[in-house]
Amino acid sequence: MSEQSPSRDEVVVAQKSPIPVEVEAGKTYYWCSCGRSKSQPLCDGSHQGTSFEPLAYTAKKTETAYLCGCKKTFHAPLCDGTHQSL
Ligand code: FES
Ligand code: FES
Repeated sequence: MSEQSPSRDEVVVAQKSPIPVEVEAGKTYYWCSCGRSKSQPLCDGSHQGTSFEPLAYTAKKTETAYLCGCKKTFHAPLCDGTHQSL
């Protein structure tokens, strides 16, 4: 299967569902906003050469956070249900 590479300004839908992450209060995580990371939902540097930057997210409490895997959320980095309309 040949896949066309997305343009540098295009978001890649990594997956159409949220990705649970065990976050720790006060710790900062870098959410992948471009969808290209191989370590979803967090940035692995694959955005280089695109117009995207990771989004820093500092957890307010220790919990399971559901981070957006589709990259279309309006409440980044958290899933807001937008993936259901993709
Ligand atoms: Fe997607 Fe860094 S790899 S923002
Ligand atoms: Fe992106 Fe739910 S996974 S809005």
